[in-house]
Amino acid sequence: MTSHFLEVDNLVMRFGGLTAVDGLSFVVDHGAIHGLIGPNGAGKTTTFNMISGFYRPTSGQVRLRGEAISGLPMHEVARRGVVRTFQHSTLFAELTVLENALVGTHMSFRPNIFAAILGVDMEDRRGAKARAEEALEFFGLLDFENEPAGELSHGHQRALGMAVAMAAHPDVFLLDEPFTGMNPEETKHMMTLMEKLRDSGATILLVEHDMHAIMGLCDQITVMSFGKFLAEGGPEEIRNHPDVIEAYLGGARHVA
Ligand SMILES: Nc1ncnc2c1ncn2[C@@H]1O[C@H](COP(=O)(O)OP(=O)(O)O)[C@@H](O)[C@H]1O
Ligand SMILES: [Mg+2]
Repeated sequence: MTSHFLEVDNLVMRFGGLTAVDGLSFVVDHGAIHGLIGPNGAGKTTTFNMISGFYRPTSGQVRLRGEAISGLPMHEVARRGVVRTFQHSTLFAELTVLENALVGTHMSFRPNIFAAILGVDMEDRRGAKARAEEALEFFGLLDFENEPAGELSHGHQRALGMAVAMAAHPDVFLLDEPFTGMNPEETKHMMTLMEKLRDSGATILLVEHDMHAIMGLCDQITVMSFGKFLAEGGPEEIRNHPDVIEAYLGGARHVA
């Protein structure tokens, strides 16, 4: 299961006349932090949307443990263990921190025979609460569990977004620019949490423009440009890759 854990195979996404993702292929190893980078508009978010089931690809396939998952609805993809983080804006600001985390536990709710016969009983709810609190504890949010999510600091709200995803017990986290708007202290803390997440057995696919974070965290990096695969390698290799430097310079940006 080390290789070909999550496989993106020749994905294409067209919006009218625009090809946002154009025959993209790469493989994410089990237990890796895998970066997906590229200049603005390269097609990173669109790729995430296809992997998570938010978009049905125009063509191509995504496989998890060899099993096709593209084209499945988002809750089915989540149930199979691939979950994208909720961005700040999709937290329920008026619900408590715990209630938000409980939403995460429902994303992966696996209907079983007992639930079908008895309905969701007290034991199930207790189980969900335990999972939610476990995720909150992991991200250092347990002390805030009864506070409205909207009153948390920005850094804590981003951590809660990850806790909501974690409460679903996914095998793969899709994180789209998790460090946006964070101060250096919050970024450092979040990087530590991501390493902890990987060490606990999770696989992380990370889209991020903070190159310091990408280079510091990623085991492997895939670079896209204009919807296409451009390069792949470890942080050192990517940092010094002439095509990657060219792609970023061409877009008037730079690889740090
Ligand atoms: N829903 C959409 N409809 C039309 N065009 C889109 C849509 N989503 C993204 N695009 C276009 O697809 C290209 C890739 O966008 P995106 O995946 O958001 O890039 P990135 O996340 O790498 O910045 C861009 O040109 C963008 O304008
Ligand atoms: Mg994007």
